[in-house]
Amino acid sequence: MNTHQPIVIGHRGAAGEAPENTLRSFALAFEQGADGIELDVHITKDGEIVVCHDATLDRTTNGSGLICEKSWEEVKELDAGFWFSDAFVGERVPLLREVFELVPRGLFINVEVKHAYEGRMEKALLAFLRESGRIEDVVISSFDHKVIHRIKQAEPEVRVGLLYSADLYNHAAYAQQIGVEVHSLHPSHHHFEKEDAVAASAAGLATYPYTANDVRDYQKLIDAGVTGIITDFPARLRKVLGA
Ligand code: G3P
Ligand code: CA
Repeated sequence: MNTHQPIVIGHRGAAGEAPENTLRSFALAFEQGADGIELDVHITKDGEIVVCHDATLDRTTNGSGLICEKSWEEVKELDAGFWFSDAFVGERVPLLREVFELVPRGLFINVEVKHAYEGRMEKALLAFLRESGRIEDVVISSFDHKVIHRIKQAEPEVRVGLLYSADLYNHAAYAQQIGVEVHSLHPSHHHFEKEDAVAASAAGLATYPYTANDVRDYQKLIDAGVTGIITDFPARLRKVLGA
């Protein structure tokens, strides 16, 4: 029997119950018993790291256009909560720094790099993490494994994870041929079975499948022995796991 309990990772905070990637969404995730959060980052034209899933502002704010073509002064005026419900009108797109200020030291923060921005993102992110003094709280993941490779080479102290949606034949073997030390696998939960989790664990890899929201999927991943589960509903997963 598997006695290991996965950690609860709030996807974009508690994206099922609050506007994704806002401070209130992150606060709610922790109120609901999350052990950590997952978030997405982009960079403004003046080099500020902002927390937003899309490269554009259109879907999750009352603004439009590419984040990388806006200044922070422009982005900070936008409403990132109204589209979710009236209760969240006035929520803003947060800076990564603001999220770190909200999250207590020692809790897990998975930063997903969405775009390299010609190397500007990794430079800004590593500078931020070094200055924060909280590099050990963080795992940086990306679908772009070249970015992950460059980040680990530039800063061996930072933990990095491979994010992917493919149904790989051998997940652990893929990570082992990347050429840098990989901390974790971030597979789609649809393509991650118990044998994959067991092999990953034997290879010393942590496993954080995304984004499971259904109780049956939680149970499958718990039985598989994964390290953590990324979910839009931290309270739901916490309930399944018990206190
Ligand atoms: O990091 C896991 C998951 O967030 C990846 O997909 O599209 O939700 O960023 P997406
Ligand atoms: Ca993400």
